[in-house]
Amino acid sequence: MTREKPKNLWQSRWGFILAATGSAVGLGNIWKFPYITGEYGGGAFVLMYLGCILAIGIPVMMTEIALGRRGRGSPLDAIARVVRENNGNPLWKLMGGMATLCGFLILCFYVVVAGWAFAYTWKMLDGSLAATSVEALAGVFEAHNASPWQLGSWSLIVALVTLWIVGKGVTAGVERSVRWMMPGLAVMLLILVGYALTSGNFAEGFAFLFTFDASKVTGEAFLAALGHAFFTLSLASGAILTYGSYLPDDQSIARTTFVVAIADTCVALLAGLAIFPVIFANGMSPAAGPGLIFMSLPLAFQQMPLGTVFGVLFFAMVSVAALTSAISMIEATVAYLNEKHGVGRMKASIVSGAVLIAISMLAMLSFNVGAEWKLFGLNFFDLLDYVTSRWMMPVGGILMVILAGYCLRSEIMRDELRLPAAGYALWLFMVRYVSPVLILVVFLNALGWLGF
Ligand code: PHE
Ligand code: NA
Repeated sequence: MTREKPKNLWQSRWGFILAATGSAVGLGNIWKFPYITGEYGGGAFVLMYLGCILAIGIPVMMTEIALGRRGRGSPLDAIARVVRENNGNPLWKLMGGMATLCGFLILCFYVVVAGWAFAYTWKMLDGSLAATSVEALAGVFEAHNASPWQLGSWSLIVALVTLWIVGKGVTAGVERSVRWMMPGLAVMLLILVGYALTSGNFAEGFAFLFTFDASKVTGEAFLAALGHAFFTLSLASGAILTYGSYLPDDQSIARTTFVVAIADTCVALLAGLAIFPVIFANGMSPAAGPGLIFMSLPLAFQQMPLGTVFGVLFFAMVSVAALTSAISMIEATVAYLNEKHGVGRMKASIVSGAVLIAISMLAMLSFNVGAEWKLFGLNFFDLLDYVTSRWMMPVGGILMVILAGYCLRSEIMRDELRLPAAGYALWLFMVRYVSPVLILVVFLNALGWLGF
């Protein structure tokens, strides 16, 4: 069987790891992980999330990279090609289409959150975050959101920057920016954890994150943890599969997967350790919702020496981390239009960007004039998050492991993964039994069919 030739390859040995880490590490770690951990009550949620990363996230990521590299294309084409190589049912490619759509829909609300990070970089500088109480900072956050013009402009800026970078092409820009951003972000988080250790209520924050409370294990929390494992590793949304399609043949899929998953998990846990001690020291509720980090961290920056400098650097790095994730969400769409329909990258980016901007403006309005526009009890912003994290990604994930574990000839994955026998057996066991069964149980339970 002749393999498809790659059209685009990462330029350096580290290219894929840098880009995939750039995609994985983002607002999911610094914004979403702390806020949903707070909402679901701490330690039990963290443990379910870590379990999902190990039992599902890692095997699915390996599968996704392997499918991308084997099929050498955007998700729809790559999967179509791999399935054709097996005389399988061509309908499998719809799974690639769903992943592409999922990444796109995530970006529609992600630009709003990234806009907060951009805006806070600026607010750190101009003194609007000088308030010294949680209440006052909550007020700043609310006032920011109440203005569709303000909120909309920042979201629009993020969307335009993302589209511009994607239009230019990924391999060069992404590799370069992630190389200095990742270590920078880690240093900033360590500084914040250092502050939390000395001035926050570290003991309570630590206990909140790592004390297991069985009463907090609910079906709903499990589904959230599962969805978050997919979200934080950028799975089943086109990003990792498309980046995998640019991976040179000689690189190890397992090794890169572990590096990315470990980096991503460390950043999330560090963010939790930086944030919760500050929250408890200031009598704030961990369940404050999406504004959690924006209401608590500025307080920490005010109280530490050189706080303004650190605060600006921190929010600037969060903004860059958000951008390197954002570009990966629309890469599948742009790659599809470019490879399949021959549309130039810049043009593809502008066309899909117009749709993106329209939908993201609707998401942005959820925080002000459209707060009451609800479907299934959720505003549009929450609806996009809910549909993608709770449903599209886990469904995409289960289909992917079924395809790889049961439908493809075994040489295909074996060739791509090139693992020692025991490693391959473990991967196969995970994708055949552990991941699909776990996803299924969580689903059935969320539908109320199992009832625990
Ligand atoms: N993993 C990213 C984060 O944690 C979000 C993301 C989801 C990126 C899906 C790409 C695709 O911020
Ligand atoms: Na992440």
